[in-house]
Amino acid sequence: MKFFIDTANLNDIKEANDMGILDGVTTNPSLMAKEGITGEQNILDHYMAICNIVDGPVSAEVISTDYEGMVREGEHLASLHKNIVVKIPMIPEGIKAIKYFSGKGIKTNCTLIFSAGQALLAAKAGATYISPFLGRLDDVSTNGLDLIAQIRLIYDNYMFDTQILAASVRHPMHIINCAEIGSDVMTGPLSAIKALAKHPLTDIGLQQFLADHAKGNK
Ligand code: E4P
Repeated sequence: MKFFIDTANLNDIKEANDMGILDGVTTNPSLMAKEGITGEQNILDHYMAICNIVDGPVSAEVISTDYEGMVREGEHLASLHKNIVVKIPMIPEGIKAIKYFSGKGIKTNCTLIFSAGQALLAAKAGATYISPFLGRLDDVSTNGLDLIAQIRLIYDNYMFDTQILAASVRHPMHIINCAEIGSDVMTGPLSAIKALAKHPLTDIGLQQFLADHAKGNK
């Protein structure tokens, strides 16, 4: 399973990249705003800064909601860097735009997926990735992981190339469960990725090893 980090924070991106396990980055307009990145040029510059840190797919989201606007914005974003993936919302105009980009060989990430039907449509339009938001489904008492499993089954039935990018990941168990289900990618915060490394027995064991080494070398 590929690991993407879901943030526009350059320090977090650097830290995850330095761990050597980072395959890509996803952003969205809220994450950009959270970092105080506003204004078209600043946003474009920020995507470039991310692309200069990570050698992997970087999702950059369009703001337009009409087909022509999404095509215009998406083409501009894709021209910035070879690793930019155009992130497009799951709306009827978005499906048209995904179909257009797929014909042009431009990679897309269909975002705001909350149902298997939406995932099926995006795959038929040729999306490179689809982003089911599992944490946000959990937030409304619906099992987000069930949706990932349902999409996995459908994509495998028809051998769709579209990759499942489990999004809105909140904690390490989401990551582990996504890996069990066979999600192609997961995107989550640095905290969830780092939490995978934590185990109290590892910490206790290491403390003991170091203490014994110190005693023996007195
Ligand atoms: C997906 O690409 C989104 O950026 C994201 O995962 C949303 O997560 P949230 O529900 O934690 O905002």
